[in-house]
Amino acid sequence: MKGIVLAGGTGSRMHPMTRVVSKQLLPVYDKPLVYYPLTTLMLAGIRDILVITTPREQALFRELLGDGGDWGIRIEYAAQPKPEGIAQSFLIGRDFVAGDHVTLILGDNLFYGDAIGGMLKRAGEVATGATVFAYAVSDPERYGVVAFEPDGRPKAIVEKPKVAPSVFAVTGLYVYDGEVCDIAAILKPSARGELEITDLNNVYLARGTLRVEKLGRGFAWLDTGTPESLVQAADFVATIESRQGFKIGAPEEVAWRMGYIDTAQLGRLAERMKNSSYGRYLARLPTME
Ligand code: DAU
Repeated sequence: MKGIVLAGGTGSRMHPMTRVVSKQLLPVYDKPLVYYPLTTLMLAGIRDILVITTPREQALFRELLGDGGDWGIRIEYAAQPKPEGIAQSFLIGRDFVAGDHVTLILGDNLFYGDAIGGMLKRAGEVATGATVFAYAVSDPERYGVVAFEPDGRPKAIVEKPKVAPSVFAVTGLYVYDGEVCDIAAILKPSARGELEITDLNNVYLARGTLRVEKLGRGFAWLDTGTPESLVQAADFVATIESRQGFKIGAPEEVAWRMGYIDTAQLGRLAERMKNSSYGRYLARLPTME
């Protein structure tokens, strides 16, 4: 299973905050936003990851994440010159995907819940088709929304409908079989000029191979598309972290818990950041169990 983090876009809804830096590099409480989707992939056992960025900001992502070696994973980079749609990830990432199964996560989506890694892993083990994850929200019109048949099967996904056919938004986390790059290649740009992920998912749906898994109330899905939602995400992380004493979305910790790195390597990574509470947390981890 390969993984792609899509972290491009103009961030125009967040200007002036994102005029000189990608949204996915902004902090959500105590770490950069991109750490959260990256660790979601890592928790599913995915160790081959492509990070797609704008050409201008790629150097910053490389500086932050490196080649993944410190965390026992492999990170490659590719550039998306213009934000021409989420499904373009599979044209840009075609060589990287190389016919494998692939999980795509949007670089501004934050998932929380201890079942998420297992759920993603299971979705990746299904031989053919695609899996999307739906989450009940109070403002579905802002998202792709699932319309259901009376028997509960998905009927269609509608992108930003005026009147939402259900409360179930499609989250920015998608698992595909090896055909996804071929399907992306036949998509036509939408009225807003983008290769829509919703169109791609509707191709799978028409073939009868799209699964919609509902994320229940034991999960949190937060997107960070507006200044308000960015603050809400930061508050959420701060609240859980201070209550539990454990961090959400720390790649060093996830790498260590998943067995990608050993305790000695965790110690080396902690040492580099020993002046911050984050670094001291990493140093303490082996004694916290
Ligand atoms: O967050 C989930 C939603 O994401 C889904 O429910 C929708 O079906 C899907 O279309 C998408 O909706 P958004 O309107 O939120 O997409 P947005 O254009 O904001 O892009 C989401 C992220 O992906 C954003 O951080 C920028 C990045 N992106 C987007 C596009 C279109 C890219 O890196 N490149 C792109 O070409």
